[in-house]
Amino acid sequence: MQIRQTDEQGRLRHLITLEDLDREQLESILRHAERYLSQPGKPPPRDTILSGQTVANLFFEASTRTRASFELAAKRLSADVLNLDVNMSSRAKGESVMDTIFTLQAMHVDIFVVRDASTGVPAMIARQVAPHVCVLNAGESDVSHPTQGLLDVLTMQLHKGDTSALRIAIVGDIRHSRVANSAYHALSKLGVGELRLVGPPELMPESDEFVGAVRDTTLDSGIRDADVVMALRLQKERFAQLSDIPDSQEYHRRYGLTQARMAAAKPDAIVMHPGPMNRGVEIDSSVADGPQSVIREQVANGLAVRMAVLARVHEHVRSARGEA
Ligand code: CP
Repeated sequence: MQIRQTDEQGRLRHLITLEDLDREQLESILRHAERYLSQPGKPPPRDTILSGQTVANLFFEASTRTRASFELAAKRLSADVLNLDVNMSSRAKGESVMDTIFTLQAMHVDIFVVRDASTGVPAMIARQVAPHVCVLNAGESDVSHPTQGLLDVLTMQLHKGDTSALRIAIVGDIRHSRVANSAYHALSKLGVGELRLVGPPELMPESDEFVGAVRDTTLDSGIRDADVVMALRLQKERFAQLSDIPDSQEYHRRYGLTQARMAAAKPDAIVMHPGPMNRGVEIDSSVADGPQSVIREQVANGLAVRMAVLARVHEHVRSARGEA
């Protein structure tokens, strides 16, 4: 059962998936994020709009970028921020996720930012929290990573303009990638010239997924004349058996982005990667750190996107608490 992500007034309350957002809602968040990037090279300006609200980061799976940027985003908007150390929390003693949530809700947490390795956990929490409380999905199994999808399309737009004119190649472990899923959902609404999925057959999604995308099992033809090339990590933690994981050297030989292979893409193509990267496997350092790489800009744009999403849901919190 899907969760309704807007409140009765149409304000964003939860962000669990990009699949249910329409083009106008996506553009609205993206333009809001862009305003936080108005001073290139500088951190987004501080704001006090989340003053008096509490954001809890609950990462039940490892993270560097998403966790740090949600924390910094909430602090830049003047929220009180709680980063629960999951390994030191009572979940390690067997407490259920919902008991953890209800405990923190009793301490007046207003916005939960949740990453979990299991499908459905953010939505399950969203269904049970108090009416004023919001839930933001910070990465859910191989299903959804909505703020990553937003920061990825924002990065494409900032470099290349309207995505509906672009040839975009996503290379690698698409089958296990919540990043690819969320990018697909955003691009489906915003438009894409051509979306190519490039990788070995065993890492392709099911045939009824990514409707409209072109599949290619050869890197050179898959990235030919692409405007955007996005490499993905082999998600070893999501393979059912260790024996199913492709050999890293062979994978690099066939699908690793190298300078030589990038010559097949357009000369001004940008190279993206959501991180964390496995250098020498899906991408060479010469490409990751090279002139076409926008990987660090993706990280910077992620902070702005997360500020925009927090700024959106805070309106629901204020209204539901009778403060609007
Ligand atoms: N892209 C991404 O989600 O990175 P982290 O796992 O470091 O948060």
